[in-house]
Amino acid sequence: MNIYDVYSLYDVTPVRGKGSYVYDEQGTEYLDFYGGHAVISIGHSHPHYINKLTDQLEQIAFYSNSVNNPLQIALANKLETVSKVKGYDLFLINSGAEANDNALKLASFYNGRKSILALTNSFHGRTSAAINVTHTGRKHQAPINHGAEAVYCDHEDLEEIIKEINSGQHACIIIEGIQGVGGLDMIDPSYLSDIRKACDDSDTILIMDEVQCGYARSGNFFSFQSTDVRPDVITVAKGMGNGFPVGGVLIDPIKMPAVKSRLGTTYGGNHLACAASIAVLEVIEEEKLVDNAETLGAQLKSELAKLPYVTNVKGAGLMMGLELEFAIKDLRKNLIFNHQLFTGSSTNLNLLRLLPPLNINTGHVEQFLEKLSAGLKQI
Ligand SMILES: Cc1ncc(COP(=O)(O)O)c(C=O)c1O
Repeated sequence: MNIYDVYSLYDVTPVRGKGSYVYDEQGTEYLDFYGGHAVISIGHSHPHYINKLTDQLEQIAFYSNSVNNPLQIALANKLETVSKVKGYDLFLINSGAEANDNALKLASFYNGRKSILALTNSFHGRTSAAINVTHTGRKHQAPINHGAEAVYCDHEDLEEIIKEINSGQHACIIIEGIQGVGGLDMIDPSYLSDIRKACDDSDTILIMDEVQCGYARSGNFFSFQSTDVRPDVITVAKGMGNGFPVGGVLIDPIKMPAVKSRLGTTYGGNHLACAASIAVLEVIEEEKLVDNAETLGAQLKSELAKLPYVTNVKGAGLMMGLELEFAIKDLRKNLIFNHQLFTGSSTNLNLLRLLPPLNINTGHVEQFLEKLSAGLKQI
C-alpha cells in the first residue's frame, strides 16, 4: 500500500530528537527552529515528558470517556494554574482543527446562528467547519464544506469587524491572536476590547484560536493575555502535547453550560494524552518558559532586524516571521541541506516562519543566527 501522496517532502529523515535538535539516519544534527509546525514546545524527548509518558503507559494507556478519568481533572487544574485563566471548563479532543470545529459548533448551539466571522489570512484547520473559516485554505475546501456561511474581514479594519459583529448575523468571531500559516500578522491587541463589547451587545461568541500562538509561545501563556479581554472560548493544540496528538477547548460554562451528549469523542482526553499534556505544563512552569519565550524572543527579534535583505520582523515571543526582499523557498532548502537548520514558511512567500522549542537558550539563538547568516551570504 502507498502513502496517500498529499505532502511535498524534503528528502531528510529525522529518526531521533533531543532538545532543540533532530538527527537523521546518518546521525547528522539539525537545529530545529520550526518545531514541526509549532508542536515542539518543551524540546524533543524532554526527560520529564519521557518519564511521565512511560509511567502512564505502564499503568493504562486508554479507556473510554464513559468512565472516570482523574487525569483529565488534573490536566484542567494544572492548565488553570499555569495559564492563569480562571473559570473555564475544558473539553478535550485530538487536534487543533477539531478544537475549532467544536468551538464553532458551541457558538452555533448558543445563539442558533449559522454564519461565522473570521479574518483574512486566517488558518483554523481542515475539518468541515474549521476549513470553512480558513481564509488561507480556500483551495482545500470541498463542496461539502460549504455548509455554513463565512464572512472575512481584514484584521486592520476594526470598523468593518465591528459592523459585521453588530449585524447580529454571526454565531461567533474566530481570531488567531498572531496568525501562523497566514504570515505572522496580528490583530492590534487594542482592538480586542471593542470586539469584546460588540460581541456582548450582539450576543456573538468570541473565540480565540490559540492553537499555534498559545501555550507560552507569544511571551504570554495565551497571546490575548497582553490585554484584559476575556474570550468566551479558547482553542488549544500543537504545543499542548509536544508531539502527542491532543487538543482542547476552554469554554466559559456560565455562558455555554454543558449539555449531555452535545459534544463527544472516542480518543479525546485519553490517559496518555493527559499525561503528555500535564508533563508539558509542568515543564513550562518549572523552566519558566513563558518568560524564556519573552526574553529570548526579544533578543532574537533585535538580532534578526540587523540581517541583510530583511524588510520586516513580525510576531512576538518565540513566534517570529522574518520577511525578506525575496521568496524564501530556495533559502529554506539551502538552510536544511547545507546548514542543517529547520525553519518554516507561510502563505507570505517572502516570510521565514520561526517556531523554535520554548526552552532554547542564547547559545541556540547564536547558532541559529550563524547558520541563517551563512545561508543569506549565498543569496
Ligand atoms: C492557528 C491554527 N489553528 C488550527 C490549526 C489546525 O490544527 P491541526 O493541524 O492540529 O488540526 C492550525 C494548524 O496549523 C493553526 O495554526
